[in-house]
Amino acid sequence: MRYPREHSSKFIFNRIVTGDTRAELAELPDNSVALSFWSPPYYVGKSYEQHLRFEDWQKLIREVIHCHTRIILPGGFMAVNIGDILCFPDESIPRFQADNVRRKKVAVTKEQILETKQKHPDANRYDLAKLLSCSEQTIQRRLEDNNVRGGKHATSTKIKLTGCLVVEWAEQAGFYLYDQRIWHKDPCWANSRWHSNSYRAVDEFEHVYIFWKPGITEYDRHRLSAEEWAEWGSRGVWQIPSVRRNDRHDAEFPEGLAERVIRLFSPAGSVVLDPFVGTGTTTCVANRLDRQWFGIDNNPVNTAIATQRTDEA
Ligand SMILES: C[S@@+](CC[C@H](N)C(=O)[O-])C[C@H]1O[C@@H](n2cnc3c(N)ncnc32)[C@H](O)[C@@H]1O
Repeated sequence: MRYPREHSSKFIFNRIVTGDTRAELAELPDNSVALSFWSPPYYVGKSYEQHLRFEDWQKLIREVIHCHTRIILPGGFMAVNIGDILCFPDESIPRFQADNVRRKKVAVTKEQILETKQKHPDANRYDLAKLLSCSEQTIQRRLEDNNVRGGKHATSTKIKLTGCLVVEWAEQAGFYLYDQRIWHKDPCWANSRWHSNSYRAVDEFEHVYIFWKPGITEYDRHRLSAEEWAEWGSRGVWQIPSVRRNDRHDAEFPEGLAERVIRLFSPAGSVVLDPFVGTGTTTCVANRLDRQWFGIDNNPVNTAIATQRTDEA
């Protein structure tokens, strides 16, 4: 397999374009991309995905995966960084009623209220509050119980695993799940309501699924040093701090993540694509690592930053 600096077709790489990624991917030459590394909208309510219903989100990811069948080189890879949807609202979940024992600042119990009600059958909750020296809200909360997942009127949520969806769509598109890594990022305490009112863990890891397009894959043990193979190349869990700044983009992945994926799954000189390029993390690192690059995002503010950042790399 040869990876010429200038691709044989007229198509020019080393650019970042603005547009819907499905339309832009259709312009890329056949069998031209050695690695496509991307992180799509996760359907978690970020500004750039708020217009999407779950069906639209699924359609977007499925179609983007299908666009890759033609453009990835035989033997090349598509690596998808995605997190599970930890708070997936579902109207059909029975109300999760829980008694948050540590949050009761007032000692009045449900049993006491019921006992008082038996003695004063005509008392409403305001009368009961006076009789028990507490607030009317305490009476209501004790009698109706708290819904710990967002209050009794909020829709309950469950976890939606995204990996099974992505794997299914990739296999339909002719790819095979070759490898997976866990990106262990910083624990996301900002999501505190998710865990502080329940037994759930904080959000602190994401997946990188690596799909292979059948063909001859160049295998070069010298892509990494012996120390790098031992430290991360052959390891399943990658500890890499999250990007703390969010003034540029609110969902940037770290350059360290892009660097590992690019070094492992693409040879120098080959084309690395990011169809959801955001502010250009993948393209910036690809340029620095002597790969060709191509990036797409539908937000012109992002593509302007990505272009500048990649050129400066
Ligand atoms: C998770 S972010 C990617 C962040 C990127 N990895 C980085 O480090 O900056 C997803 C990006 O996809 C873009 N996007 C969402 N829908 C798109 C579409 N249909 N076509 C092109 N870009 C899209 C958003 O504007 C957003 O920048």
